[in-house]
Amino acid sequence: MTSKTALITGANKSIGYETARQLGRLGYSVWLGARDQDRGKLAADRLVSEGLDVRPLAIDVTDEASVLAAAARVHEFNGKLDILINNAGIPGDQSAPSEQSVDDVRAVYETNVFAPIRVTQAFLPLLKASGEANIVMVSSGLGSLGWLSDPDNMFFGVNYLGYNSSKTALNAVTLAFAKDLSGTGIKVNAADPGYTATDFNGHTGYRTVEQAAAGIVWLATMDASGTTGGFYFEQDQVPW
Ligand SMILES: NC(=O)c1ccc[n+]([C@@H]2O[C@H](COP(=O)([O-])OP(=O)(O)OC[C@H]3O[C@@H](n4cnc5c(N)ncnc54)[C@H](OP(=O)(O)O)[C@@H]3O)[C@@H](O)[C@H]2O)c1
Repeated sequence: MTSKTALITGANKSIGYETARQLGRLGYSVWLGARDQDRGKLAADRLVSEGLDVRPLAIDVTDEASVLAAAARVHEFNGKLDILINNAGIPGDQSAPSEQSVDDVRAVYETNVFAPIRVTQAFLPLLKASGEANIVMVSSGLGSLGWLSDPDNMFFGVNYLGYNSSKTALNAVTLAFAKDLSGTGIKVNAADPGYTATDFNGHTGYRTVEQAAAGIVWLATMDASGTTGGFYFEQDQVPW
């Protein structure tokens, strides 16, 4: 068992919820982030009923005041954070690139790019207080320019403007934080959960949330000898 603490954003359902469960089973004290307090409490209660150390944390990642209040709550309760998983994400309008509105692209970036920056910056003092922390950005294979530009890759034809480019940007954000924080004991990596059956895609994904969360948890629980500044699907590197 461990007295280590973890926060997962967007954890009231799907990949984030399963990630909270897997970290709870490993003995972590888990903050289950949710923008809706009722949904967060219901989800946390379910994991508590499984015997896990989980509590809900109100956090709308697009709302500065909400993020700062969440960081203050964790500071008051634990004084540190060992794992931050920026999981909350939205797909946006998946019309053709020539038709998606700039407003919709901007909304996708608010949640998928600017919010992980905001949340990471807000929780950095707590992550630094841990002494040895991991940040995982939940990205997507659709953010890999290497895969998207390869006609032989299965994702070549999946041509979403806002979503794909937001995850490419998130990968760049991951690398920037990893370099900035090298030497502080904080590792920063991006995870591709793979195409997973959730509400995100009307449950058309071929992977389970258990499989998706396993790769995220692997990155989140690496010890000091682990990698930083990488992009992984399960335990394999994904081309940027
Ligand atoms: N599913 C896939 O195939 C797949 C593949 C690659 C990457 N991903 C990535 O994996 C992550 C999780 O996806 P998922 O499939 O689990 O999606 P999901 O089923 O749609 O769940 C998304 C979660 O994010 C939360 N969320 C959205 N906006 C938020 C905000 N402003 N503040 C706080 N929470 C917010 C949602 O809360 P509400 O319940 O309140 O809406 C929900 O808990 C996303 O970053 C996604 O891009 C998914």
